[in-house]
Amino acid sequence: MSGTRAEVDLFAAIDPDWPPLDDVREGWQALDEDGRARVRRRLAAVLAEIELDDEANEAAVRGFLSFLAQVEPIAIDVPLQALADAEGEDARLHERQLADEVFHALLFAHLAERHGGLAEPIGAAEDLLAEIRAPEDLAHRAVLLNLIAEAWFETLFEHAAEWGLAD
Ligand SMILES: [Fe+2]
Repeated sequence: MSGTRAEVDLFAAIDPDWPPLDDVREGWQALDEDGRARVRRRLAAVLAEIELDDEANEAAVRGFLSFLAQVEPIAIDVPLQALADAEGEDARLHERQLADEVFHALLFAHLAERHGGLAEPIGAAEDLLAEIRAPEDLAHRAVLLNLIAEAWFETLFEHAAEWGLAD
């Protein structure tokens, strides 16, 4: 299977015009073949296994998964930029982190497409993501990412567990 063919397959189920996908594509392009193979394997394994509750409110599930897919790509920015200047073991660490984040973003996007399609990105969330991306200094962006986005995600997953969506 050629890289181009695999890439088409991986992104084929996702609306190509959905704006947050641009960051995911950029992260994907920066991965080497090992990283891409890891993303493909994990995505295929999880998508084959995961089943959401049929009884759940479909509109709420669609909104929740779309929101996760919208905000997850912010985690791609830091390892992507760090990778550009890294060598040796540091480069391998950033590459692994980048592959993880590309996998997370693709997983949420695929799940949202399965559950009614990716909803329009939420403007207020885009504004907050822009604040995280704004500092020129990478370390500053990494701090904002960890303080704001990671806390944001933990809160979301706590709610998801309470709702029976993330057991
Ligand atoms: Fe992530």
